[in-house]
Amino acid sequence: MSDPLRLGIAGLGTVGAGVVKIVRQKANLLATRTGRPIEIVAVSARNRDKDRGVRLSDYDWVDDPVALAKRDDVDVLVELMGGSDGPAKAATEAALAAGKDVVTANKAMLAHHGQRLASLAEENDAVLRFEAAVAGGIPVIKALTEGLSGNEITRVMGVMNGTCNYILTRMESAGLSYREAFDEAHDLGYLEADPELDVGGIDAGHKLALLASIAYGTQVAFSGVTMEGIGKVSIDDIRQAADMGYKIKLLGVARMTGRGLEQRMTPCLVPQTSPLGQLEGGTNMVVIEGDMVGQITLRGPGAGEGPTASAVMGDVMDIARGLRIPTFGKPASALIEAQPAKMVTPAPYYLRMRLLDKPGALAKIATALGEAGISINRMRQYDHSSDTAPVLIVTHKTTRDALDRAIGAMSTTGVLSSDPVALRIEQV
Ligand code: HSE
Repeated sequence: MSDPLRLGIAGLGTVGAGVVKIVRQKANLLATRTGRPIEIVAVSARNRDKDRGVRLSDYDWVDDPVALAKRDDVDVLVELMGGSDGPAKAATEAALAAGKDVVTANKAMLAHHGQRLASLAEENDAVLRFEAAVAGGIPVIKALTEGLSGNEITRVMGVMNGTCNYILTRMESAGLSYREAFDEAHDLGYLEADPELDVGGIDAGHKLALLASIAYGTQVAFSGVTMEGIGKVSIDDIRQAADMGYKIKLLGVARMTGRGLEQRMTPCLVPQTSPLGQLEGGTNMVVIEGDMVGQITLRGPGAGEGPTASAVMGDVMDIARGLRIPTFGKPASALIEAQPAKMVTPAPYYLRMRLLDKPGALAKIATALGEAGISINRMRQYDHSSDTAPVLIVTHKTTRDALDRAIGAMSTTGVLSSDPVALRIEQV
């Protein structure tokens, strides 16, 4: 058997503790599968005294994660601290600069600094892997960089924030308002310390930008992701969508268009009979379409100790086996700068609004749509007892630009009593 692969773990939260458990409890399995013992030599975290339910006394404790990253007896830095900058980035850079491999679960760091870190890895003959950063336990990075690498990828889609999917599912199944479902998710500890990362679509947007880079061979372009959160989705939208045979999901879509790379993370309607439509609770799903393979669907837990630690260990074991794949599937210097194309692919849209209930109001809305070149497919004004009328319109395929023009025109008519909610209907 070869020399041990020696790990330094920075960050001992839920995932870090999970990785320690796997290394301790499955030592034989890891060694026989990779041909090398995998050992932890040192760990680092903010609070040394906290009980994490795992035995840490066998490992050196290092207060400074950068010092941990530079240790001569550390072959691989396992970075599980999180945060796009600060100690996580400093330790990752220190490890790569010293020619050490890095395994991280840090989507924010890679979304913001992925290109620079991938280049640094290559300059120093190191590898930087991040399976755990995207869709938790689902091996989607491996699927894209390895199993599907003979395909031109035509579209990548995913529900990659379990907290948002939980909130939307609870609104639907229990009839909760957005606020009630949000509070429930909060009480269950599902929300990030900054909830906007979840419900604003930012966490899922980070993940989409990483998948798009691999799928299209482009530099990570998080600033090119159009993001809309789920806060504008109401129980009315969920009910109306269900009535028409749709579910509402926070759906990420990346595709290369004739006008550039389109990346969006927005609430969308998807058919309730589709795999995405049937995805319940905190589970994640990634759908990949390739020219040779067609469509494949990967479904599984997107967070939690076991699933995320499982993904981290998959990367560690690849390194132990000697597998050295570039961070984003091809050399960092060969990744091209993506031209951002904002929401250019046409789609039908769902529009919900309240109108003053007076003669000609609906005609003004229809005119605004018609003048923007948008054709109405379905329309409904449902029962009401107040002096404003709830109206639902489903358009034929149109662009987001045309829709925004129409909404702008509607707002000058004086007949809207609230801002329209516009949700894309994604063909999946
Ligand atoms: N907060 C994320 C989610 C997990 O709810 O899916 C970490 O990315």
